[in-house]
Amino acid sequence: MTRKETLSAAQAGRSAELTGAEESGSRARKEEVAEAADEVELLSGSPQSVDGISEASLRPRSLDGFVGQTELKSHLEVMLGAACQRQEPVDHLLLAGPPGLGKTTMAHIVANELKVECQVTSGPALERTGDLAAMLTKLSEGAVLFIDEIHRLPRPVEEVLYPAMEDFRIDIVLGKGPAARSISLELAPFTLVGATTRTGLITGPLRDRFGLVARFDLYNHEDLTQIVKRTAGILGVPVTANGATEIARRARGTPRIANRLLRQVRDFAEMHREGYINAQVAADGLAFFSVDDLGLDRPSRAVLEALCAKFRGGPVGRSTLAIAVSEPVETLEDVYEPFLIQQGLLIRTPRGRVATKASWVHLGLEPPADVSNQHPELFR
Ligand SMILES: Nc1ncnc2c1ncn2[C@@H]1O[C@H](COP(=O)(O)OP(=O)(O)OP(=O)(O)O)[C@@H](O)[C@H]1O
Ligand SMILES: [Mg+2]
Repeated sequence: MTRKETLSAAQAGRSAELTGAEESGSRARKEEVAEAADEVELLSGSPQSVDGISEASLRPRSLDGFVGQTELKSHLEVMLGAACQRQEPVDHLLLAGPPGLGKTTMAHIVANELKVECQVTSGPALERTGDLAAMLTKLSEGAVLFIDEIHRLPRPVEEVLYPAMEDFRIDIVLGKGPAARSISLELAPFTLVGATTRTGLITGPLRDRFGLVARFDLYNHEDLTQIVKRTAGILGVPVTANGATEIARRARGTPRIANRLLRQVRDFAEMHREGYINAQVAADGLAFFSVDDLGLDRPSRAVLEALCAKFRGGPVGRSTLAIAVSEPVETLEDVYEPFLIQQGLLIRTPRGRVATKASWVHLGLEPPADVSNQHPELFR
């Protein structure tokens, strides 16, 4: 029986043919049957149109649909539920964590769950105090104001935010020189949801005014598998359970990367395979797009390669390392390093970045003996 026949037999429910094959005792056949059954499970899903699907349409819209981040979700559930019961606006929220983990998604979920409008802006867009005053005064009662990249708010604008957050009031200065006068405007109670990839850059006074600072962690493989299956369902991509796991495993703990890899593998499957994604197609597709076994793509590997090959494993300062890989320091710190650190491939020390033994092994390089002696604590 060819592979296609096995698949169609499984799909048509001709289990006798497959069971018979299983009884024949051949291990290869058994694996093929198991894989065919795995394929049937998801191939039966009816594909939808893939045109015009943007990142926004992949975002879950309710807390229940939001996969993972269990602790954070339970905190939010309690806060939102209690505020709804008291019929008061929810306390201000700061969502913090590396890019692509669901901060923007969560901000919209908060507004959705509260059934209120969500006004969206970002730190760099609010250049003058007047920009923020205009946003704040047009908010309806209980609305959510989402400020993305809140760490990039100019300081004078941030200062307008303090009384707005605490007392729902803003003080504006009208005119200049001796004729200038200050007026105080009442605002409708609202909830500020701020998002940041860099909590370290949020000033103390601003951070203290948030009722909850919610930190997003990198996702585990199970949660990412669920996200891949969910996205595949929306995009109408036929993917097997093992195919989804293979993509999730290499998504560097990040839903946005998982969704991107799924799209790339889908394209690969359509052009070079039969259009569906199983574990083998996923592995081949990811290799085609230069994503290695751990999920490192070219730029992430370049960081490790620079560290090991150019700087003999470090320690090397972050700006030197950033220049060596032609990336801004912020991108190095926010985008590449969190996963490398989480995987134990790189560590940040007071003297700079250092590659661990796992890093040399992953690149297929021999760690130099003198480097091991230099940092014995890292090579145990
Ligand atoms: N928990 C989740 N469940 C399902 N999908 C998710 C989840 N978290 C994120 N996603 C998906 O990942 C994508 C990126 O999420 P989002 O834009 O919310 O990240 P972000 O934290 O705001 O990133 P950035 O810091 O770059 O703005 C979205 O399209 C969303 O569909
Ligand atoms: Mg975002």
